[in-house]
Amino acid sequence: MILASRISKLNPSYTMQMAATASRMREEGIDVIDFSVGEPDVPTAKHICNAAITAIDSGFTKYTTVSGIPELKTAIKEKVKRDNNIEIETDQILVSNGGKQSLYLACQSLFEKGDEVLLFSPFWVSYPEIVKLTDAHPVIIDTRPENNFEPNFKVFSNKMSLKVKGVIINSPSNPTGAVWSEKAVKNILKLAKEKDWVVFSDECYEQLVYEKPFKSIESLNEYNAEVITFMTLSKSYAMTGWRVGYTFGNPKLIKAMSKLQGQETSCVNSIAQKAAVEALAGDQSFMIEMKKVFKKRRDLMLSLLDDIPGVSCTTPHGAFYAFPDFSEYLGVRFNGEILNTSTQLAQFILENSKVVTVPGDGFGAPGYIRFSYAVSSDFIEEGMKRVKQALQKLKY
Ligand SMILES: Cc1ncc(COP(=O)(O)O)c(C=O)c1O
Repeated sequence: MILASRISKLNPSYTMQMAATASRMREEGIDVIDFSVGEPDVPTAKHICNAAITAIDSGFTKYTTVSGIPELKTAIKEKVKRDNNIEIETDQILVSNGGKQSLYLACQSLFEKGDEVLLFSPFWVSYPEIVKLTDAHPVIIDTRPENNFEPNFKVFSNKMSLKVKGVIINSPSNPTGAVWSEKAVKNILKLAKEKDWVVFSDECYEQLVYEKPFKSIESLNEYNAEVITFMTLSKSYAMTGWRVGYTFGNPKLIKAMSKLQGQETSCVNSIAQKAAVEALAGDQSFMIEMKKVFKKRRDLMLSLLDDIPGVSCTTPHGAFYAFPDFSEYLGVRFNGEILNTSTQLAQFILENSKVVTVPGDGFGAPGYIRFSYAVSSDFIEEGMKRVKQALQKLKY
């Protein structure tokens, strides 16, 4: 069988691969500590689950309209007004199978061969792959921890080709946890307006911002740039397996994405949509609790990372990842082999401490390793102790 070339061009998801390694090791009875997780460790709240049970009991188990049930769109409109201070109309909303499908649909609807799409590294592993699937070209702009992982506008804005059609921003970021300053957001919006770029704002970690209240990019859009916003119930409501995300923006694009979704997956699971209504409109208090717990874990993770010689990590102000720099350990020899990449270093950590992490290579950040702190404080303490001990075997 000869597979289509688009499949060979596609990289498998690094994060999914590491999660699969962790679960395989667990099945083998290995006492593994998994810092590769990309989801909250708390269960979906009971009142949300109950809404799903009611949906099943009342026979709400058939196809729905492609773009989402009216009740859910109303809940989205109210949530976006309540939490993000943005007023949207029903025809600006599309409900999809998670943020990942939303991003895929938007990219397929907008980009094609000859287009360029700007991404900032470190980037979420799926962005370049989703862009490549449209035959457009991802253009990577490096950012540095000392600049809060924001681009140097003076350097990059003059270099952009006329082929650029879109730019993807992810604040709070996976993997760095960085939250862009208002100044950086406004700079990009101004530039996007001038150059006619579509701004993709992936705000899937919007509810997990620890120091300051989160401001959605659209709410700062005084330049009237074309912004399309991606949100999901996966992280904020601990609903990763339910597969519900939503997009809002220009009705023309929403209609195009909806047309594509109609031919691709028809609609989002009817039961999950009812649960999503309850999540967005019902009691929000558990989210505040979850945020408090994550902040404590973040601080614990940072203090333990700080204790490892040669490792530095900026404070992640959002999401649930720490993204420390391990580059001091690259080029070190172990058992006759040189550890040249963060993938090799993460493999060394896995073999020597039974701790699963995600190497920075997949995020376009060689030398870095991602640690998720969406795990218990006990696991964080034990896991980081093991990592520290393993690294002592390396003379960096
Ligand atoms: C930055 C980012 N965007 C989007 C997603 C997609 O999430 P979902 O498809 O579960 O909504 C993820 C998931 O890890 C993510 O980290």
